[in-house]
Amino acid sequence: MDEKHKKATQILIIFASVDGMTQRICESIARVLQQDQSSVTLVSVDEYDAEIADFDKVLIASSIRYGKHHSKITTFIQDNATLLNAKKSAFISVNLVARKIEKRTADTNPYVIKFLKNISWKPARVAVFAGKLDYPHYGFWDRIMIQLIMRLTKGPTDPKTVIEYTDWDQVDAFARSFSEW
Ligand SMILES: Cc1cc2nc3c(=O)[nH]c(=O)nc-3n(C[C@H](O)[C@H](O)[C@H](O)COP(=O)(O)O)c2cc1C
Repeated sequence: MDEKHKKATQILIIFASVDGMTQRICESIARVLQQDQSSVTLVSVDEYDAEIADFDKVLIASSIRYGKHHSKITTFIQDNATLLNAKKSAFISVNLVARKIEKRTADTNPYVIKFLKNISWKPARVAVFAGKLDYPHYGFWDRIMIQLIMRLTKGPTDPKTVIEYTDWDQVDAFARSFSEW
């Protein structure tokens, strides 16, 4: 089949995101994939209503809150593990521990190590991206808790702090590699 009539690669991206950072990372990846002529379905796990079987590649992304990936994502993965294992599939974790570069891989990020051990899906590719710290946006208790975590891990505790730790070049490199896969 010539280039013009080749069917576009169908890619599904499912994400769980509370404050929008994981969603923004997925949107950025989707733009790269679309530039490369893939057809991308980008959807929150809350609104997911499609058949994994219809896609060539699947990307699942979740942020961490209080030490865990979102339960809806975990349930989704466990319900679909067999199908996911049969696809080209990748997992993305977004968290603040990954602000430290040495905690930004599947083998070094504690949340990802534990998560992958406990699920039946074996994603062939895993990326860990640093998220955003946004004290002014947090409610009282969340702010106190994040400040406590930051104090323990030698991060910023000033309640006015807003820092986007995400390395967008890393996101871009992942997207390109996922596209070429
Ligand atoms: C209430 C709350 C709890 C969080 N807990 C953790 C945590 O336990 N470990 C961590 O590394 N990051 C933690 N984070 C940081 C988030 O993972 C980070 O802000 C990420 O960018 C959020 O992505 P989202 O906007 O897509 O949900 C927490 C953030 C909030 C608001």
